[in-house]
Parts: sequence; structure tokens; C-alpha cells
Amino acid sequence: MVRWSSSYLSVFLALLVMLVLQTAAIGRPRLGSKRPARPLVMNEISESAPDNLVLAKMPAIVNSDKYFNIKSTKRRLKANVNPISEDCKSQTFKEELNLLRSKVKCKPRLVVVHLESTTTSTLMPNSVLVKRCDGMCSSTHKCIANVTRDQIFYVREIKNNLVSCSSVIVSEDVSCTCDCPQRATDCKVNQDYDKDRCRCICKNEKDYEKCHDKRKKRNMYYWDDKECSCFCLKEKVCTTGTVWNRKHCRCISESQP
Ligand SMILES: *[C@@H]1O[C@H](CO)[C@@H](O)[C@H](O)[C@H]1NC(C)=O
Repeated sequence: MVRWSSSYLSVFLALLVMLVLQTAAIGRPRLGSKRPARPLVMNEISESAPDNLVLAKMPAIVNSDKYFNIKSTKRRLKANVNPISEDCKSQTFKEELNLLRSKVKCKPRLVVVHLESTTTSTLMPNSVLVKRCDGMCSSTHKCIANVTRDQIFYVREIKNNLVSCSSVIVSEDVSCTCDCPQRATDCKVNQDYDKDRCRCICKNEKDYEKCHDKRKKRNMYYWDDKECSCFCLKEKVCTTGTVWNRKHCRCISESQP
């Protein structure tokens, strides 16, 4: 009997301690609570320090779009298309079609953006959530942002085993529109604007064909639509006495013209 009641007592005491700890935790300011939204909550060195002191410790804001490599992935899927017995004009088919259309329309969508530091520091977390334009447009148009804003994120920066609180700015898409990927004003001197395809087209079609032929003979070349030029797929480091020749995509003796 005595053993039983003492174990009940210890369980009761453990619950009491947990309750006290929980209450204490609620009293503490938490991230995302209604306290003035300042990064100082993130500062682990001194939570109670005056604002100016904490702010002095904050490193300069880093615009991650410029200083970090932002990775994004786009997936394309080869779909097996199967006919169905349903009539295309039926109510259910139309409803399903419209539902899908409204869901895939071009609009800002939440995406995870991975941040990769260009210096030796690591960020924790190294991913943020922002809205980016994506969705369906006609085949020639692209879902492009017409209004963007900078979104600030507070992260830990780890460098040489030292942790500091930092901030990164990642641009976020606010509004999207289906637009041409390029405008006539974007075209270079060696390009014409193709209204139907809604993009710049290289004028030097002959060079394109030559590049294509060269590629067929030796798979070392590719056509760059932006530069309207034929380039080597890879560049090699040449041994002494030879130099890389971009026209032939191979190392050629320096003495050769
Ligand atoms: C952005 O595009 C949307 C959709 O086409 C349009 O309603 C909005 O007015 C545009 N905003 C600006 C600033 O161009």
C-alpha cells in the first residue's frame, strides 16, 4: 500500500512541475507573438537588452537574391493521355475543367526557396517560404510577376562555429500576369521581334543552321538564343603550348593561326 501511494504522489508531483514550467513558458515572449515585431526576440545573447544595443549587434541586412544562390526546381511531366467515355460537353466534364482551370491559373503561390550562402557561413534555416508566380498561361505567354516586394526573414548564421542572428531579404511576387517573356525593346541588334511567338528571334538563321550541322558531326556545340551565337558545350584546360579555340572547340597549338 505504501509503495502504491508513493508512486501516485511522484506522478502527481511530476504533473505539477510540468504545469508550472508550461505556465512560465507562456509568460516568455515567443517568436510570432504580438510583441513589437523586431528581430531582437531572435537574439539569444540578451533578450532583455535595450533595443539599440541589440540592433547594434545585428549584421547588415543581406539581400539574398544578390548574395545567395537561390535554387528553384521546375517539374515537367510527360503525361499519358487516355480518352474517356464522358462527352466533352457534359456538365460534369465542364465543371471539372473549370475547377482545374481556376486552380492552375497564374498567381502567386507559396514555394520553398533554398538559400545557399556564397560565403563560408551556413544559414539555419537555409530555406524560406515565399510566394512566386506560377501557373497556366497560353503557350506563348509566361506567368510573370508585375508587382514584387522584399520580404525579410530572421535566421541564424553560423560561421567559424559562431552563431549570430542575421536577416536575409528575399523578393516575393505580389501580383502576377500572363505576359510575353520578352518585349521588342529587349531584342538585341542581331534579333528581330516575333509578335506571334512573343519573343526575340535571332536574325542570323544561317549561323544557326551551321551550328546545328556542327553539332551533328561533333556533339560539342550548342546554340545560344540570347547571344545568337554558337558556343562550345564545355571548355577544356589546355596543356602548355596549346590554347583553347572556341571556333573548333579544341586545344590548338599556339603557333597555329
Ligand atoms: C498586374 O497584373 C494584374 C493581372 O493582370 C493586374 O490586375 C494589375 O493591375 C497589374 N498591376 C500592375 C501594377 O501592373
